[in-house]
Amino acid sequence: MQPLELIIQGDFIWSYGGYEPKIPIPTVLNEIANSYYFVGHTGDRSVKTDLLNMLLNMHDYNHQNGTHRDLFRITEVEFHQFIDNGHQSHAFYDMPTAPYSLAEKLSKPDVMLLPRIIKAHLENHFPSLVIFHGEMPFGKAAQCHFFVPEAENCTRTYVLLFGQAKHPVFKLLGGTYLKFGKVVVDQDADILGKIYPDAPQKIKLNNEVGMDWVRRNFASFPNVTAPHLSK
Ligand SMILES: [Fe+2]
Repeated sequence: MQPLELIIQGDFIWSYGGYEPKIPIPTVLNEIANSYYFVGHTGDRSVKTDLLNMLLNMHDYNHQNGTHRDLFRITEVEFHQFIDNGHQSHAFYDMPTAPYSLAEKLSKPDVMLLPRIIKAHLENHFPSLVIFHGEMPFGKAAQCHFFVPEAENCTRTYVLLFGQAKHPVFKLLGGTYLKFGKVVVDQDADILGKIYPDAPQKIKLNNEVGMDWVRRNFASFPNVTAPHLSK
């Protein structure tokens, strides 16, 4: 076998898998590792979907209250802002959730950690990285989702979770936050195995700016073309 060329950058080891690099390695993970501590990894799995459909799902700001309704009980997505910086972008939205009853909380104490409104800031680095910045009751989390094409119809994904504790109890809850991350990945993988990606789209929904960003960048990669999508 040919040895892979590895690139070591701070705490991270990268590889282009023997392909010619088209874009530089993102430096954002080094910045996160400098100010957050590493909580752990989760959700490492192959998903039977191509890279484009994986990315379209991850940047579809309408799917949370359907795909992620179980456990998180997201009732709607209140979309606020999209900042388009070419291969990098930011999306800001709030996701109100339906409350759990006291009996449900007593039988599943983990759900007490779910906020009443999930405030999302997604920091996106096309094509391989989505960072969910979340404010938790006892600290801040940076949940980094990676996407690596394995074959034409197979995409690998995994999560590296970083945290910033505002209260010492946050460090004790790392395992629970990792479990939440795994549930998110499994819910997305489940839906990606059930959709009909080649069905023609006949209607346009309200919060598709992230999907438009994916389609634009995918079509012109590694160049960035019009339109500019900030809103
Ligand atoms: Fe999702």
